Amino acid sequence: MTTTTSGVETAARSTTAAARATDLSKVYGQGETQVVALDSVSVEFRQAEFTAIMGPSGSGKSTLMHCMAGLDSVSHGSARIGDVELTALKDKKLTQLRRDKIGFIFQAFNLLPTLNALENITLPMDIAGRKADQKWLDQVVETVGLAGRLKHRPSQLSGGQQQRVAVARALAGKPEIIFADEPTGNLDSRSGAEVLGFLRNSVRELGQTVVMVTHDPVAAAYADRVVFLADGQIVDELLAPTADSVLDRMKRFDAKGRTS
Ligand SMILES: Nc1ncnc2c1ncn2[C@@H]1O[C@H](COP(=O)(O)OP(=O)(O)O)[C@@H](O)[C@H]1O
Ligand SMILES: [Mg+2]
Repeated sequence: MTTTTSGVETAARSTTAAARATDLSKVYGQGETQVVALDSVSVEFRQAEFTAIMGPSGSGKSTLMHCMAGLDSVSHGSARIGDVELTALKDKKLTQLRRDKIGFIFQAFNLLPTLNALENITLPMDIAGRKADQKWLDQVVETVGLAGRLKHRPSQLSGGQQQRVAVARALAGKPEIIFADEPTGNLDSRSGAEVLGFLRNSVRELGQTVVMVTHDPVAAAYADRVVFLADGQIVDELLAPTADSVLDRMKRFDAKGRTS
């Protein structure tokens, strides 16, 4: 039986890590303006698992995603994707690894307005000069429910559909892991539910690994596991979350915050 740092037993779950942070710290600025955004965080994201990251604004959620995705440098400690230590990579190798092994979904959909949905989906591969695996691409397009929309430009799609294009774009290159930073933050609850459903499908049906930041207990309930951050540290973890159990856990933190 294996045990996580928070003492949660994980015997029944896969132990292969798609990504792992070990004693990861991130400090912005110097002297009086110094901010410790991450304070010695150790966390593992297992293959084919959907993890939600929650925590108050400013607790370091985006910083953790950016450091793990190689979008930001690390001050201390280690960030690994599979067996690859990101802190040891030079710029060119890091860019390559980001391109080949990591998908990122932002709150703003970040689609190119002049390209249609399909062109947006394959853009990273086109830039990399890689040919899309057509069978996989068809499966991804099917999974995110975009088959009838591939010729549409972003302006001809709803917010939910645009974010599904961004999800398909992240999935298309078969990344080892997808990081999503509040992917439903700009969506109404129905479109949000669609996108969350597709993220969950990508984990269940395609074996994708997904790590998603969210504020919303309902969104977090789509995940297999919730990791709670506060002041740059991991303070709790919840398996098989429901919206109620997440809300309950959040209330406990709020109560602690007020009495301290
Ligand atoms: N580029 C930056 N320069 C200075 N401070 C930053 C920068 N990015 C984030 N921070 C600070 O780090 C802390 C964590 O930020 P962030 O990871 O964005 O939090 P969250 O995503 O949980 O809201 C905050 O105090 C924030 O102000
Ligand atoms: Mg953030």
